[in-house]
Amino acid sequence: MKELELGDGGEPRQQTTSRDRTMTTAQGGPIADDQNSLKAGARGPVLLEDHVMREKIFHFDHERIPERVVHARGYGVHGHFELTKAIPELSCADIFQREGEKTPTFTRFSTVAGNKGSFDLARDVRGFATKFYTQEGNWDLVGNNIPVFFIQDAIKFPDLVHSVKEAPDRGFPQAQSAHDNFWDFISLSPEAVHMTMWQMSDRAIPRSFRFMEGFGVHTFRLVNADGQSHYVKFHWKPRQGLQSVVWNEAVKINGADPDFHRRDMWDAIDAGDFPQWDLGIQVFDDDFADSFEFDILDATKIIPEEQVPVQIIGTLTLDANVDNFFAETEQVAFCTQNIVRGIDHTNDPLLQGRNFSYLDTQTKRLGGPNFTHIPINAPKCPIHHFQQDGHMAMMNPKGRANYEPNSWGEDGGPRENPQLGFTSYPEQVEGRKQRTRSETFADHYSQARQFWISQTPVEQRHIAAGYTFELSKCQHEKIRLRMLSHLMNVHDDLAHAVAKGLGVTDMPKPAKPAREPITDLPPSDALSILKN
Ligand code: HEM
Repeated sequence: MKELELGDGGEPRQQTTSRDRTMTTAQGGPIADDQNSLKAGARGPVLLEDHVMREKIFHFDHERIPERVVHARGYGVHGHFELTKAIPELSCADIFQREGEKTPTFTRFSTVAGNKGSFDLARDVRGFATKFYTQEGNWDLVGNNIPVFFIQDAIKFPDLVHSVKEAPDRGFPQAQSAHDNFWDFISLSPEAVHMTMWQMSDRAIPRSFRFMEGFGVHTFRLVNADGQSHYVKFHWKPRQGLQSVVWNEAVKINGADPDFHRRDMWDAIDAGDFPQWDLGIQVFDDDFADSFEFDILDATKIIPEEQVPVQIIGTLTLDANVDNFFAETEQVAFCTQNIVRGIDHTNDPLLQGRNFSYLDTQTKRLGGPNFTHIPINAPKCPIHHFQQDGHMAMMNPKGRANYEPNSWGEDGGPRENPQLGFTSYPEQVEGRKQRTRSETFADHYSQARQFWISQTPVEQRHIAAGYTFELSKCQHEKIRLRMLSHLMNVHDDLAHAVAKGLGVTDMPKPAKPAREPITDLPPSDALSILKN
């Protein structure tokens, strides 16, 4: 390797005589001069034939891919999941069979609303998505750090996201983090009130990714080898504990270091201080589902841990930073439809819509149907199928047959396997086609109230301050009053604290609930950070 030299024009040139270190074009051709384009004469025009310059600039021009339509800002980390309690009686999923076995994982944490270049400490929900590379295929648990969601039906998702992201006329939300459009949408969608309680709480400004819980949110099914099914909710419990910052700190940190959360994760892992989460399951049957006060298919509701305790079955350890942020964090594709034998979906209409949305958007974001060929998305178990061709295809079927059934015996490629293959839980379904929402989804305030009364006085003050700050950014009084009319159904103390903060003296009438709330639900210890 030669030392730094100066070229003819005085520019620094790093030259080598070693073949291994010789810079090449993408076609592998050695490059002699990477500083100067090919010109007709020293001061002449650049020649179109300069394949070195054209290839370099062409590739640069195409470096960006569409950012995720939501959760654009994220940070990915490798790790492994170790099973500490086998659950064959509940699920035949291979990952849940052998205690002590480790399964490789990739986890991406994210904010939801901000663009890729936004700041880490926005008041926002955090994504917590984990891909488990199991021996029977990839299982993606695509969750959040809040156990409920804004809406009950996926058909409302585009509107929710439009209301929170840039306004179409001006290209930015109307205020820094609170705005008329968002609160207009929320105040017209009372199902979102419970989620906004969590969003205004300290949970939405976590100290770092390492101090957050994670939730699968939806009710899923576990299915055992005999075909018996139980319902399940998935929980991630941080071994580091739960911690948040206060709003003042969040604002200052965003100004001083917008990369605060990703830097924290990088530094911790770099220093060998590997964060860990226990995977917990809440398991219940049809009898519980039928007797529970709310519908287990409604993603705006939790199941209190006092009613169905969380059993810990394993531990996630995050122990390696990425080598290549783009190849791994940017190109990873989590998808709720990626489930494995022994885990199944339920009829939650939000989940069913997500199953369509992720694959659809990733086909566009990652340039076609072959994004499972990208190493971060590829399963780490054998794969055999007859899918072929398409943009960027890397692995077409080998041998004579690319179809089945075929009569080529051993040469005929992969075959179905009824014993090992995925079978959907044969749930009985019937009904008239209709667009109505089930009446069992109609109670929007009871659990919001339960959340409020579960909080310590300090946490309650923060929630009230959160609503006050956000609603104070709404220019339209009717939106502020409409939100207050919902908060009056949650709790008088909350509604009056926010009204006082906003300077509202004439309280609006409480919103008319679609179903009368249950006012005597007991507090749940698990809902407060400070009691944990
Ligand atoms: C991305 C969670 C609801 C559409 C994500 C990500 C997470 C997540 C964690 C980021 C994944 C990553 O790190 O790459 C959730 C949760 C939901 C929910 C917990 C509700 C319980 C929905 C709904 C839809 C949707 C209802 C659409 C109908 C999307 C899309 C992306 C995304 C399109 C971007 C995916 C990509 O480009 O790779 N979601 N989401 N989500 N979500 Fe959701």
